[in-house]
Amino acid sequence: MSNPYSPGAGLRPPELAGRDDDITAFETLLARAEAGRPSQSMVLTGLRGVGKTVLLNDLANRARHRDWIVAQIEARSDPDAAGTAFRAMVSRSLNQSLRQVTGSWGVGERLRAALATFKSFSIRTDPTGGLSLGIDIDPLRGRADSGSLEMDLSELAFDLGSSAAGLGAGVVVLIDEMQELARDELSAVCTAAHESGQRTVPFYVVGAGLPSLPGLLAEARSYAEQLFAYQPIGPLDRADAGTAVVRPAASHDVAWEEAAVAAVVDASAGYPYFLQEHAKAAWDYAPGPGITLADATVGLQVGRDKLDFGFFASSWNRATPTERAYLRAMAADGDGPASSGEVARRLGKTSVQQVGPVRANLIHKGLIYAPEHGLVAYTVPGMAAFIGRQVD
Ligand SMILES: Nc1ncnc2c1ncn2[C@@H]1O[C@H](COP(=O)(O)OP(=O)(O)O)[C@@H](O)[C@H]1O
Ligand SMILES: [Mg+2]
Repeated sequence: MSNPYSPGAGLRPPELAGRDDDITAFETLLARAEAGRPSQSMVLTGLRGVGKTVLLNDLANRARHRDWIVAQIEARSDPDAAGTAFRAMVSRSLNQSLRQVTGSWGVGERLRAALATFKSFSIRTDPTGGLSLGIDIDPLRGRADSGSLEMDLSELAFDLGSSAAGLGAGVVVLIDEMQELARDELSAVCTAAHESGQRTVPFYVVGAGLPSLPGLLAEARSYAEQLFAYQPIGPLDRADAGTAVVRPAASHDVAWEEAAVAAVVDASAGYPYFLQEHAKAAWDYAPGPGITLADATVGLQVGRDKLDFGFFASSWNRATPTERAYLRAMAADGDGPASSGEVARRLGKTSVQQVGPVRANLIHKGLIYAPEHGLVAYTVPGMAAFIGRQVD
């Protein structure tokens, strides 16, 4: 019942270890904006389970504590709802934040204009006004309601940002799984951030996504590379991984044997999801009072089963038999990138084109990505070893 560890997508860890630099970078962005100084927007990239979502949540809370206008969304690739879904998500999330902010700021003249723009932006997707509920202001016709996401988002960014600036704050839109946005949505986001930056209006985007995201942004807008500060989010180093394991227990007066910590850190290769799962299993198995190497050793087996049936299965189960064969053919290279030509050969094909569609589907599903032209890699750490454990 008192087990402090939290394996699971987006579940807040008891100790957010090793992310001080990223947090400082964001705090600097906030402080600079409040002083009227511009910064680049940010993009966090990394493999699944590395801790992007929980970091993004932490950053969002920091902005909220400073009374910023904060919108937080998780992008979903949904071809039926392209464009409108994005606008609706942004509206819903902004609505919540604006209601909170007006609670602490009051609706002065400055905010009134921005709220009117927000209302016309949201009414464009939801004419009944459900997405701007509780904001009792007439929409400003002709502002952010053209129907072009790019124009509307930029106008909204400008109006909200200018109002927030007048109150010593700013606007930040945090987008998780950003690689799922359609190309025109990515362009719209870039344009809004770019134009605000040029006019020194405090509107920022913080995106999180797979390592494919920088490439997608560059395809959407040639200036994306300068627009964003790209921060790779990787596995924790040994010291931080150890802290992630030891500290949550210490606050319950439970001590880990040094060798037990080392075993968990080694088996996890510093990946936060694995650390949480293994540490949790060791805690559950340990009769107490402390956690010994023997407890950890049993915990690692239980933890690995949990990962196989949870973390890994959630990716594996989304692949068709043909796609699994492709993933399997990649596994000869371990977790390192594989050459797509070599993978095709392993599958008995004479050209990469013959497996092109399978490869494209796997990329589309976010199971693999292309770190460089002609290479493919898993988006899930430890995938090669997992595949080795599967008998089809
Ligand atoms: N810095 C960290 N220290 C310790 N545990 C972490 C850290 N970041 C993430 N975790 C844990 O790792 C798991 C995956 O985190 P999540 O943010 O969902 O990863 P991602 O979004 O990159 O797939 C969660 O169980 C979370 O509690
Ligand atoms: Mg995530």
